[in-house]
Amino acid sequence: MGIVATGVGKSIGKPIVRILGDISLEIRSGEFVALTGRSGSGKSTLLYILSTLDDASEGRVEIDGRDVARMSATEISEIRNERVGFVFQFHYLLAELTALENVLMPARKTGRTEELTSYARELLGRFGLGGKEDRLPRQLSGGEQQRLAIARALVMKPRYLFADEPTGSLDSANSEIVMKLIRESNRNFGTTVIMVTHDLGYAGWADRRIHLVDGRISSTPTST
Ligand SMILES: Nc1ncnc2c1ncn2[C@@H]1O[C@H](COP(=O)(O)OP(=O)(O)O)[C@@H](O)[C@H]1O
Ligand SMILES: [Mg+2]
Repeated sequence: MGIVATGVGKSIGKPIVRILGDISLEIRSGEFVALTGRSGSGKSTLLYILSTLDDASEGRVEIDGRDVARMSATEISEIRNERVGFVFQFHYLLAELTALENVLMPARKTGRTEELTSYARELLGRFGLGGKEDRLPRQLSGGEQQRLAIARALVMKPRYLFADEPTGSLDSANSEIVMKLIRESNRNFGTTVIMVTHDLGYAGWADRRIHLVDGRISSTPTST
């Protein structure tokens, strides 16, 4: 179980530019991995490919032993809806839905809203949002919105959590809270975490760091 990438590359545009090349890695179930590298080094692109949101131009990605390129549309949507949670730098909450409704969005997609409502409330409480279930996103602070986005990513109890600079738009106090929640899901629930970060301090919270330089894995991670 886990994610295995073999010789993954990504080329885009006209004329064609290669933005990722020769990426081979293995992320074992239960690991907490930080993906680091300068801006433009390909971190987001790699994260999207590993999470099935984007496809590789070459090479192979296997999730839990299955080649993503050979999965049926049904299997891919099962992975996206149930096995994977996403947290982005900007939270993309739905403005017209309450906090509780936003957290339950992934459950609604799979028809499990009722079953998961009490768990969603429990997550909101644990994330310091108890009593704010009925607020709209604009009635919450930036830190609260990001915590809400993490609760949404976790409501399906996903096996994998992909986070793209989850603290990128937060102050240090809120960054600390968000990072602790991510680490807790890794430790307490065995969620495999793959997190892009600019912050070397937080990269140090991970079991392991994968460092990208110009779209390739660097064997000697030094600075960002
Ligand atoms: N859709 C796109 N069209 C053109 N260039 C892109 C596109 N997506 C990413 N890139 C380029 O690919 C490189 C890697 O991007 P990205 O994965 O977003 O890097 P990072 O997340 O490390 O900042 C950058 O040079 C970026 O400009
Ligand atoms: Mg990025």
